[in-house]
Amino acid sequence: MNVKKFIIRSYEGQSDRVQVEDLERRCKVGQSESVLDTMGDPICRIRNSPMYMMLVAEQNNELVGVIQGSIKMVILNNHEPPKDLAKVGYVLGLRVAPHYRRKGIASSLVQKLEEWFSSNGVEYAYMATDKENHASITLFMDKFCYTKFRTPAILINPVNYHHLFRISSNIEIARVKIEKAESLYRRFMGSTEFFPSDIENILRNNLSLGTWVAYFKGDDSFGPNGQVPNNWAMLSVWNSGEIFKLRLGKAPLSCLLFTKGWSLIDKMLPCLKLPNLPDFFDPFGFYFMYGMYHEGPFSGKLVRGLCKFVHNMVAKSKDENCKIIVTEVGGRDHELIHHIPHQKLLSCPDLWCIKALKNEGTNTSHELTLTNTPSRSLFVDPREV
Ligand SMILES: CC(C)(COP(=O)(O)OP(=O)(O)OC[C@H]1O[C@@H](n2cnc3c(N)ncnc32)[C@H](O)[C@@H]1OP(=O)(O)O)[C@@H](O)C(=O)NCCC(=O)NCCS
Repeated sequence: MNVKKFIIRSYEGQSDRVQVEDLERRCKVGQSESVLDTMGDPICRIRNSPMYMMLVAEQNNELVGVIQGSIKMVILNNHEPPKDLAKVGYVLGLRVAPHYRRKGIASSLVQKLEEWFSSNGVEYAYMATDKENHASITLFMDKFCYTKFRTPAILINPVNYHHLFRISSNIEIARVKIEKAESLYRRFMGSTEFFPSDIENILRNNLSLGTWVAYFKGDDSFGPNGQVPNNWAMLSVWNSGEIFKLRLGKAPLSCLLFTKGWSLIDKMLPCLKLPNLPDFFDPFGFYFMYGMYHEGPFSGKLVRGLCKFVHNMVAKSKDENCKIIVTEVGGRDHELIHHIPHQKLLSCPDLWCIKALKNEGTNTSHELTLTNTPSRSLFVDPREV
């Protein structure tokens, strides 16, 4: 029987910070038992969202559980042309102290967060998890009726600080100003699933390092009247390592095999100058490439060029805080995987689950369209990584 001696209340920065950080350190997440170091700011993963909330579960003056949520407006309609913006709530950072599990604490936290979502007019709640995290999947899918929504691929590329990639000489890469980036995103990605209506806030955030476009030399460049080259690609970069670091408790078998094979090749063929693989057991930061867009039959090459450019930018910066470059692609963009440099054995699928919240007066007719196979690209918001 669940004896609910705990209370759920809002997080209070001054008095709860140390306990929440300690709880985060004690909770290993998923198969890789990853642990997040929020570097003194436990709400760093939500504070860049338009609205956010952190709830804690307290028992006898001890914090035994925590959950975070953020709210924003996104495109969420599978119709062509898309017509609806929806208010969505993202659930993240759910942790319950190991000795207090299976007592209904996570359930109470999720329920309270959903109530906060509903009171703010949220139509859909969603969460992302490692597809091997059975506790989390059972909790959300069986108990709270979330349904599997999308399975984007998380692609990981280690940074080689001793090697710069060669970028084909017929590719031009240019940085675009924030205003230009916003107009390109609204025009070309504005109908992408989960495209955030406040894209300008993401682009203007200090963590966003910039937006770059690539096109072939000689192909007409970006004209003043909105012309674009026949083939072009675009992406932006977000510095996640600035706000939190990750540490793995247990490397998945694939990762161990990869590391072993890698050091063997490095020993036998030092001339290849393989990158030093990051020590995943030490806290490491990463850059996240977001808002990847491409157009034209040869634009895959441009995406590759941009990814190499980002790698070289990190390698030249000597900012050894950033050990890996990560991106996440889903929906129609799955074919892009072939053009994005990544290590297969380090990469993994993500599982997104969603649920329509029943708000009075809310149109939940999206429900049917949401379960369709993805027909459009998926925008992965760097604030939610
Ligand atoms: C996932 C987690 C938050 C669950 O917390 P909890 O307080 O134990 O969850 P609850 O007691 O509310 O469990 C509710 C239901 O979820 C499911 N569930 C919870 N833990 C489970 C487990 N280890 N295995 C299978 N099902 C589980 C069960 O259906 C459970 O109902 P039951 O106890 O009546 O069978 C906790 O295990 C945790 O902190 N894990 C590490 C961090 C993590 O993985 N977070 C999720 C990231 S998305």
